[in-house]
Amino acid sequence: MQAKILVIGSSNTDMVIQVPRIPAPGETILGSHFFIVAGGKGANQAVAAARTGANVTFVTCVADDAFGRQAIENYRKDGIHTEYIKVQAGTHTGVALINVSDEGENSISVASGANNHLLAVDMEGVADAFDGAKIALAQLETPMETIEMLARMAESRGIPFILNPAPAANLSDGLLRKISILTPNETEAALLTGRKEVNEAEIAAIGGELLAKGIQTVIITLGSKGVYLCDKEHREMIPGYPVKAIDTTAAGDVFNGALAAALAAGQTMREAIDFAQRAAAISVTRRGAQPSAPFFHEVINFLL
Ligand code: RIB
Repeated sequence: MQAKILVIGSSNTDMVIQVPRIPAPGETILGSHFFIVAGGKGANQAVAAARTGANVTFVTCVADDAFGRQAIENYRKDGIHTEYIKVQAGTHTGVALINVSDEGENSISVASGANNHLLAVDMEGVADAFDGAKIALAQLETPMETIEMLARMAESRGIPFILNPAPAANLSDGLLRKISILTPNETEAALLTGRKEVNEAEIAAIGGELLAKGIQTVIITLGSKGVYLCDKEHREMIPGYPVKAIDTTAAGDVFNGALAAALAAGQTMREAIDFAQRAAAISVTRRGAQPSAPFFHEVINFLL
């Protein structure tokens, strides 16, 4: 039987332009291709978890518009439970404008729209969705009060709470204490420990500082270099899988979704990280956010 996980977060429609390089402020650049794909950190993580084997319930908010209806249809096609999705009138479904460079790097701006209407008070209505969940997974593209409420709900039910603190934001000490697994990238880890940037020689110290805030496990993602795992039993760099990246959009989301699916299925932390790294490596070889998320059999068969 598939393990149940609850993913709470954003749902966006991504408008992507392929550009030779990321434009500087004030600069206009002519791109080569344009495409519209399903995105949003929450949705990407929900889709990645579902494709890699979890029974996913996704809690998000979309508008009553064509993008919102399309998003819900897409989630259903991926077998995701959509009964707790809020539909908000008077706004638009979240939209992200994304430049992807020929080197595979990206810059993203988001108009949150309906995502800002996923409120803490709405979480009372999703309490039943926690029943039987092995893990709850969230990010930071929805209001902070909602994330704090979720952390309390997960804690009171004894359900591990994974927070991917993206995009970067300060987090209260009370919230940090409720997090079972925190998965910042370098920028987010720097902000959370009061630094302007991360010097790699400091990674172990940064992991230790975050653990000292009461988090059980910290996984700092370092792109193609791998991840730094830090908990009671581990303090180690785990290298990633070298691949030729064409689009890194949503690589972190695929990592988080696959990690949650693997942990919920009973894998150890080391096994789950390896599984998630394989999934993320596959995703960067494909274009787009949700279209890049691999299925379980692809992750298992991933060989260099
Ligand atoms: O992490 C990638 C995602 O960030 C994109 O899909 C975009 O929608 C933004 O939320």
